[in-house]
Amino acid sequence: MAFPPSFLDELRARVPLASVIGRRVRLTKRGREYSGLCPFHNEKSPSFTVNEDKGFFHCFGCGAHGDVIGFAMRSESLSFPEAVERLAGEAGLEVPRASPEEAARFKAQATLRDATEAACQWFETRLRASEGRAALAYLRGRGLDDETIQRFRLGYAPESGDALKRAVAAKDITEAQLLEVGLLKRPDDGRPPFAFFRDRVVFPIADRRGQVIAFGARALGDAQPKYLKSPDTPLFDKGRTLYALSLARTPAAEKGEIIVAEGYMDVIALHQAGFANAVAPLGTALTESQLDALWKVAPEPILCFDADAAGQRAAARAAQRALPLVGPGRSIRFATIEAGKDPDELIRAKGSQAMRDVLDRARPLVDFLWSLETAGPRPRTPEQWAALQHALEQRAAQIEHRETRTIYRDQLVSRYRQWLRQTDRDAWTKLRQKGFTPGQAGPGRRFPVPLPGQHLRSDFGASSRQAPLDAPVQRWRFLLAALINHPSLIDELGERLAALPAPNEMLDNLVREIHIARSFELDSTGLQRHLNERGFVDAVSGVLAEEVYAMARAAGPAAAVDDARALCLDALDHLERTAIDDEIGALLARAEADPSEQNLTLLLNARRLRLDMAARSAAAEDEGTAGAVPGHG
Ligand code: UTP
Ligand code: MN
Repeated sequence: MAFPPSFLDELRARVPLASVIGRRVRLTKRGREYSGLCPFHNEKSPSFTVNEDKGFFHCFGCGAHGDVIGFAMRSESLSFPEAVERLAGEAGLEVPRASPEEAARFKAQATLRDATEAACQWFETRLRASEGRAALAYLRGRGLDDETIQRFRLGYAPESGDALKRAVAAKDITEAQLLEVGLLKRPDDGRPPFAFFRDRVVFPIADRRGQVIAFGARALGDAQPKYLKSPDTPLFDKGRTLYALSLARTPAAEKGEIIVAEGYMDVIALHQAGFANAVAPLGTALTESQLDALWKVAPEPILCFDADAAGQRAAARAAQRALPLVGPGRSIRFATIEAGKDPDELIRAKGSQAMRDVLDRARPLVDFLWSLETAGPRPRTPEQWAALQHALEQRAAQIEHRETRTIYRDQLVSRYRQWLRQTDRDAWTKLRQKGFTPGQAGPGRRFPVPLPGQHLRSDFGASSRQAPLDAPVQRWRFLLAALINHPSLIDELGERLAALPAPNEMLDNLVREIHIARSFELDSTGLQRHLNERGFVDAVSGVLAEEVYAMARAAGPAAAVDDARALCLDALDHLERTAIDDEIGALLARAEADPSEQNLTLLLNARRLRLDMAARSAAAEDEGTAGAVPGHG
């Protein structure tokens, strides 16, 4: 529902931010701001601030950020309209009425909700009637007690094709409405509509507020399909709904943990065993919308999918969906049940402590990705190892959040290198002795992208004629020269190098190649030979040039490694600052065009990072360790 902006402004003005937040957080006044312990992550010293003048809260620890409506949404897991209603109620403001079309739509939905609610009640009575005896026995046989059956409002849809129609007609619910919510189906042959669920146990599916909007239904025996569920309807969008979220939301928010199981029976068994923080998607892969709903409740939902192939595929799909979106306060973990098949069976066989153990052993996403890429036969040739490294880097590259992306790449690549050494020590040693010559193909022939070596001279030529000394491309030249002349530094600084966006594709390829080559611990001559063989002849000679050494002696082959390191660190500092400044520019433009909470948070985080960098280099300058590029002048 859209609220008029003027109304939202009035609401923000009328509700004092600090007093709303003050109900949940002990705030201390500091000048014009308040500070306290962040309610959205665990912390011991306060990094949560409230600026009443600007109407914003911000946490420097977890990045949580927003206005009074955002605070109500986060702290009480409310949707935007729900938070607006709540705050307006408290402030005694009347929420403006919806347009006539909107009002008509809400009214229509209310009646469709009446239809699903009436059907739900009727299914519940059928389970307790004599015709539901087998269904009730089935549920009890699966270990459900009466309290659970009631709590989840489980029911029974009888065999009859039109009993439902007749039963709810008494409540003024029409056939058209039952058709619209998917409870009736119209056959192709012109016969009258009949009940969609017949002779099945019924699992009502509720929206986040607990109103029934759809149903799942299980056959009592081996009839196929095992489960049916309502089609998408005006009330029900399966990709935006999580089973049992209305029951799980509060317990999950309180524990800071939410469990995602695969099926209805798993969720119900989990709740009955004391895990009231469990939900499930509805027989499809987790969607972005479902992930967002989960992240509103807890920072790292635990996915607990079946150990069978289908369950593991679903987990892999969820990882793929989540990866671009992860960042501070937003990830997923993976719990695997080794012995049993699903949570329901595990709890039945081994009890809730066994389930707790499985949850406590849940693996972080970064581990899961590693296993995903390294499953199957291990790499044996340099090309296969390089392919693995590339695949790992590709995974990390999907993460949109910059700092998180860098850390993923670092962790995956360093793990890769460890594995390469441990498992392939012999091959690796041999390769190192040989100076690693990949195949007999001529330069460039195996390289998947057009070789850019030829462009190097013109790129660098232009910069050496005109550009000032601190132009990024010049810094890159110093940096790469020092690294190629002192390959041991690649080991030390490679991760920072890899995280930097190169100014052009050619440099990007060269850096990638240096990165891959460092696994083979070549000396400078070996590395140069390797790069030349990979088609970077011109690029390398453009970097290892007398004119470069004339400007930065520390980049040269004769320089001491400590001087080369200082040069590299200085160049990296500058390049990182330039990169983040560029990113801030882009984020600023984005936030101006779309001042959403997410964009503002990204911008704030980038600015904070920039300030940290400035503070660090100021501190270094005070100690006299940074400043002029060593070796030039
Ligand atoms: P499972 O086959 O793992 O079922 O499907 P389950 O939950 O363990 O069922 P029980 O224990 O045999 O009763 C997991 C989920 O996939 C969807 C349902 O949402 C189910 O809960 N599903 C499964 C279907 O939609 N249709 C099917 O035929 C089977
Ligand atoms: Mn099961």
